[in-house]
Amino acid sequence: MSEYKIEVAAPQDFLSIAALDRIAWPDAPDTFIPDGEHVWRVWCEYAVVLIARPSSDTASLESDCAAGALVMFPTVAGEMFLHKIMVHPSCRGAGIGTALMQSALRRAASTVLLTVDPQNSPAVRLYEGFGFYVREKCDGFYRPHEDRYLMEYYGTSLA
Ligand SMILES: CC(C)(COP(=O)(O)OP(=O)(O)OC[C@H]1O[C@@H](n2cnc3c(N)ncnc32)[C@H](O)[C@@H]1OP(=O)(O)O)[C@@H](O)C(=O)NCCC(=O)NCCS
Repeated sequence: MSEYKIEVAAPQDFLSIAALDRIAWPDAPDTFIPDGEHVWRVWCEYAVVLIARPSSDTASLESDCAAGALVMFPTVAGEMFLHKIMVHPSCRGAGIGTALMQSALRRAASTVLLTVDPQNSPAVRLYEGFGFYVREKCDGFYRPHEDRYLMEYYGTSLA
């Protein structure tokens, strides 16, 4: 993880984050549609977007792809919704996901919500490790066969 640092993304980071979004979900190519470049451009300026950058040139990946990223934004009910966290496949298991979550939760002054595929063990374990719990299991959240956990965090683990 010392090879990478977590920073607030700048608008010009949107292409490298969108590039990561296109390769971060290899297990569901038939059902998962990455978010488009246009919405990453908007999020990078108007939402909370965190990016994992190489700390030095020696740690760089392909220059057009971020090592990790996270996006969250306020909901109409005044909570924060953590829409997406992703780490480059070649960088996983090294603490980048944990560092992105720590940085995000420190910035969240309210309840944080997210949804996750119940079969996505790495993500569910990551979230549970920070104190997220399952508020609701939503059957057919997307297509009929695509269930999700709606998980919630009250802001206690980093207090
Ligand atoms: C989920 C994800 C962001 C984790 O990022 P990461 O940098 O590999 O995570 P870390 O190295 O910080 O590990 C954090 C915790 O995640 C869990 N975890 C990570 N990899 C795991 C694996 N292969 N199996 C089970 N748990 C795993 C563990 O609880 C781990 O903590 P521990 O090492 O103390 O046991 C990454 O696997 C990823 O990008 N997955 C694809 C995109 C995705 O599914 N995003 C989440 C849904 S929006």
